Formats: sequence, structure tokens, C-alpha cells
Amino acid sequence: MSDVADIPPGELSEDEARAAHARIADEIRLHNEAYYQDDAPTVSDAEYDALFARLLALEEAHPGLRTEDSPTQRVGAAPAQGFAKVRHSVPMLSLGNAFDEADVGEFLARIRRFLNLPEDDAIDIVAEPKIDGLSVSLRYEKGRFVRGATRGDGSEGEDITANLRTIGDIPDKIAGDVPDVIEVRGEVYLPKSAFLKLNAAHEEAGAKVFANPRNAAAGSLRQLDVAVTAKRPLRMFAYSWGELSAEIADTQWEFLERISGWGFQTNPLSRRCGTLEDIIAFHTDVGEQRASLDYDIDGVVYKVNRLDLQRRLGFVSRAPRWAIAHKFPAEQAMTVLNDIDIQVGRTGSLTPVARLEPVTVGGVVVSNATLHNEDEIRRKDVRIGDTVVVQRAGDVIPQVVRVVADKRPKGATPYAFPTHCPVCGSEAVRGEDEAVRRCTGGLICSAQVVERLKHFVSRDAFDIEGLGAKHITAFHADGFVDGPADIFRLKARRDVLLEREGWGEQSVDNLLDAIEERRTIGLDRFIYALGIRQVGQATARLLARNYGTLDAWRAAMNAAQDRESAAYRDLLDIDGIGASVAEDILAFLHEDHNRQVLDDLDELLEIEALEAADTDTPVSGKTIVFTGTLEKMTRSEAKARAEALGAKVSGSVSSKTDLVVAGPGAGSKARKAAELGIETIDEDTWIDLIGG
Ligand code: IVH
Repeated sequence: MSDVADIPPGELSEDEARAAHARIADEIRLHNEAYYQDDAPTVSDAEYDALFARLLALEEAHPGLRTEDSPTQRVGAAPAQGFAKVRHSVPMLSLGNAFDEADVGEFLARIRRFLNLPEDDAIDIVAEPKIDGLSVSLRYEKGRFVRGATRGDGSEGEDITANLRTIGDIPDKIAGDVPDVIEVRGEVYLPKSAFLKLNAAHEEAGAKVFANPRNAAAGSLRQLDVAVTAKRPLRMFAYSWGELSAEIADTQWEFLERISGWGFQTNPLSRRCGTLEDIIAFHTDVGEQRASLDYDIDGVVYKVNRLDLQRRLGFVSRAPRWAIAHKFPAEQAMTVLNDIDIQVGRTGSLTPVARLEPVTVGGVVVSNATLHNEDEIRRKDVRIGDTVVVQRAGDVIPQVVRVVADKRPKGATPYAFPTHCPVCGSEAVRGEDEAVRRCTGGLICSAQVVERLKHFVSRDAFDIEGLGAKHITAFHADGFVDGPADIFRLKARRDVLLEREGWGEQSVDNLLDAIEERRTIGLDRFIYALGIRQVGQATARLLARNYGTLDAWRAAMNAAQDRESAAYRDLLDIDGIGASVAEDILAFLHEDHNRQVLDDLDELLEIEALEAADTDTPVSGKTIVFTGTLEKMTRSEAKARAEALGAKVSGSVSSKTDLVVAGPGAGSKARKAAELGIETIDEDTWIDLIGG
């Protein structure tokens, strides 16, 4: 074909250009597959680039050739701005769950009752593994893949067509007796082996590691840069359909055979079952193979095979009556508990962590597991040296489930939970009704100091770029940073920083610049950064909004140390702040060293009041109480609107309340308002008042 290849594309006839385009596009697809899926390039980069350039030139001269499935529209395409939304014309539903044989029996009985079938009538069932990946819907029009979307909320997903085009299991074209419109649905997953490889590479590069193959698949698929998706060897099993312009099968089994004939992967373990016994045997059989499969499954799915029966059975709410997911119990494995480490958290909490002989649990190597707290260890009588059963379920941290009693080594003694902090040696105490034991060392405990500092610079707090947990730990160990204020004094120590191993001018200056950038901060972030117990982002925002400035807040908290004061009542009156949170806030601000930290920071920083709320509205400056059920907006929405309009929202009615908005079911608060003669309005009047 070199004759055609040498001719400038503009001089080729439409037909010649189309033929050349098809040939080069196919060749590039093969190279893509070799490179991206098999990690085994078949041509040099230069040859690949030349082919690609030729394809681009052809499309330039003959724009009709730039079809959606052209390789030029795939890998390496410019990143999209977010993902467009796609409405599913046929919703993507979920499945009901069965946890044991009785649930499955009930599922079959329900079907018989619904269809009015005799009890001994066999129901043909297709049993398939339930793939733990991400469900997607692939739309083909006239045999061409035109759009692919995530499940989203079932009605509306995201358009990830470009990303899906990089997956080898998803054909670009399907041929044969294909309906004009067909949406094939299935599960995209990352093989366990690829997940382990990916995480190992990420770990080495200091990048984020994924918790499990499902998260890794999701992270890989929802990439704005398609080239990143293309490097991840994602796969897909197809098992269902959405919109169809014509029927293609009479049974689920026939459907699977048809789509398999079109080039989709269907799960090879799927089987037809006639009886409850067959079904349960399938569940057991697949369960036994589970750990050795290269993909995660979290159960099996049973589907009524005949589609006419499926249609009669229909749906209940968001799940079909004709299918059910029979879940597997969480994956477990046995291993030896080598040691128990105690981690000290930001607020001094001592958390026991099991150090395990590494063991593979469902394809993931586990070497640490949580033991929760002191009582859990006692209840399970976990001893160092014990053989234990560990379990991993979905995204949760692996847990120690139980001890294998007959494998206990001789001489193993009950675990004595430390009564002193393993880091600073201070006494560790348990409050009444508290499950957690806490170090009382406060800021003399370096573990707490470091954890607090890590929190201080974390993303939702000061968010200092380049100052991660690793640097904080090192800076603290080397005596550069003892408290949060020291971070803002690092500038003066530029020379010392420059002497540190691994730090050059550029990196030191970048860090110092990043710190400078955060010298101005909103009061809400500032309060959150302090790391007061129970004061998360929402509470910090409430405090910032209610008190306005750091000075006002501190003055009010000083006054509120007197639990009889109006300031204390005002604090409790903030909707969302209860007595226990108030105690933690007051205790924090009562500590001398915390006050010192605040003084220092106040001097070093520019702390901004929360974006000023509207002052010229019918509710600005008023204290409002919402009570009863609101029907047109949620409570939090109503609160946010009121606050944005300059009102304070309080949780209880007092003489300070200006307005009560009462929905149906309002009780004592509405009565109290009536007693105090406070204006009370209903939700509609409220909405009119705030202008809809
Ligand atoms: S059928 C109308 N079959 O499980 C029912 N779903 O919990 C359509 N899933 O959203 C689903 N493997 O993402 C079906 N073999 C399989 C499946 C499967 C995994 C997922 C799917 C669905 C979820 C429901």
C-alpha cells in the first residue's frame, strides 16, 4: 500500500482515503492493545507516531473520516472538562439481597406465588457470579459503540465513553443480527493481579494506594485524562441490557450467548439451575473458587431465565422481582498475631493495632488489622502469638474476628492493655462510659503533638501544599516544629532547612511560599484546624458563623467558662451544638497552652471572618428556631438559607428567639413560643418571607 501512503491525503479520492484510514486505524488499534492492555509494545514510538500523524492528516483532509471510534478520538485526547451527564432511558436498577439458603428459598417461593405456579414447578434460573466492580451501560447504534455511561444514581450517570473505549473487552463495533439500538450493561473491573501491581507501583512513587480493586477500577475509569485510563488493564463482563429497539432473546441464557457472539465477555462460571439444590451448590462451588479468581466477586446473582416471566414479574421499587443477589460472607483468612501496637491519636486515644503475619485475604495482602479498643481485646481474649481469623469486607479496614482457640501457644498470657501512654509515659485513663483510653499527656506527648500538627496542615484545615505527614513528623523530630505557630516561623530558618538532606533551594522556597500563602485563612478553617475534640468542619463553621471573629469567639468562650452565664446558654443555643461538644470546646480553651497557641497564631496570621452574611434581609440579625417537619426543604437547607440571609439558627426557644418556623408535628417548642408570645409562622410563610 506504500503507493497510497506516499500520496498527500488531500489528493486521495474519498474512497482511497477511506480505505487508507480504515487500514491505518486497525493497525493503530492493534498497537494500542499491545501497548495498553498487554504492556508489550509491537512498534517503536516513532513508527507509532508516524502512523498516528498519517491518520490525523487523512482526517484533516477528509473530515468525514473523523468518526467517534477513530483512534484519534481515543487515547491521549485532550482531557474533558468534567463528565457530561447521561440520562438512562431504562434505569439501572439494583438487586435485592439474600444472605442464606432460607432467603433464596423465599425468593423462589415468592416467584411461584406471584406467577401462581404450583409449589413443585421447576423455575429455570441462570446463576452468575456477582462481579464487584462498576456497572456501566454501553449504547450501540447501528452496531457502533456511541456512548458509555456509569450507573450514577440509576437514572442519570456520567458520560465516560472515551475512557470505556480504551477497554479491550468493549467492542467498538458489533456485527451480525444486531438491533439498531442496544444498550449492553455489565461490570468493569480491574483484575486483582493488576491491582496489586498498580498499588506496588504507586507505593514506590509515593502516590495514593487504592483500598481494593473496586476503588482502583473506579479511580481508573473516572479519569479526565483518558491516557491514564488506557494504562490500566481494565476488563468487563457483560450480563444485562438497557434500551433495545428489538428483542434479541427469549431467555437470559440466550441473551448471554448472543452478546458473547458479538464479542462481549460473559462470565464463564455462569450456569443454568433447575432447583434450589442446584442453586445452593453453585453458590458453594463459586464461593470455593472465589479466592483463586483474578477478579473480586461479592456473591452470586440468580435470575429467572425466561424473559416473558421476567416481564410478568416486574419490579418492586428499584429492584427486579425476578433476580436476587446471594451474598458471600466477608472474606476471611487465618494468620498469626505477631504483636499488638498501640497508636496514639490526635486527641490522645490509644488504638490497638494487630500486627499480623502477612496473609492474603481475598486477593489482598493484609498485615495490619484493627482491634478496636481495650474491651474488644478482652472480649475476644486476643493474645500475642495467637492464631486469629481476620476478615476483610468491602472498603472497611481488616478486622480480627476471633481467636482459633486450639492453636494458642503454650504460655500465651492475656493481653494487658497499657495504662500509660506508650509514647510519652503519661497516665492513660478512661472516662466514664468511654470505650477509649486516652493519654493525659496533652502537648507533652509527642504523638499527640505530631497528630495535631498533621491535622493542622491537612487538606480541610490549613491545606499547606508540600507539607504532608512525613515532613511534619521529621520537622518535629528535628525540633523545628513544636506547635502550629512554628510552621509560620519556618521562614526565619530557611538556612537550617537548606542544610537538610534532600532539600534544595527550590523545594525549600516552594514550601515557604506555600506556607506564606496560607497566612490568611477563614475563621471556620482556623477553628477546624485546632483539632478540638468533636469539632469537625460543620461545627467549626457554626462557631465561625455565630461568633464572626476570633476575638469575639474567644471572649464568648471565656465568659462561657461560667456555666451559669448567658454566654454558655448562647453556645448551647446554637443549633447543632450540644452539651458534650460545648464541654470539649470549653475544655480546649481553658488550657493555658492552647490559649498560648491561639495568641501566637493570632499574631502571625490574618484570620478572616466568614463571608459576611446578608445584612439587609427580613431575617438578618434575627434568631430563628425551626421545629416540626419541613416539607419543601430539608432542615439543613432551611438552616443554610437562614444563615446566608444573616439569621442565627438556634435549637431551642427562649426569650431571645425572634421567629419560630413550625412544620407539622411541632410540639413543645411551638408551645413555648406561644407562651412567650414569639411570632410563629408555617413553612409556606417562611418561604414567602425569604423570597422563595
Ligand atoms: S443484574 C436489573 N448481574 O450488582 C438487575 N448485576 O447489587 C441488573 N452486578 O447494579 C443487575 N454482577 O452493578 C447483575 N451478574 C450480574 C452482576 C450484577 C454484578 C452488580 C450490578 C448491579 C449490582 C446490584
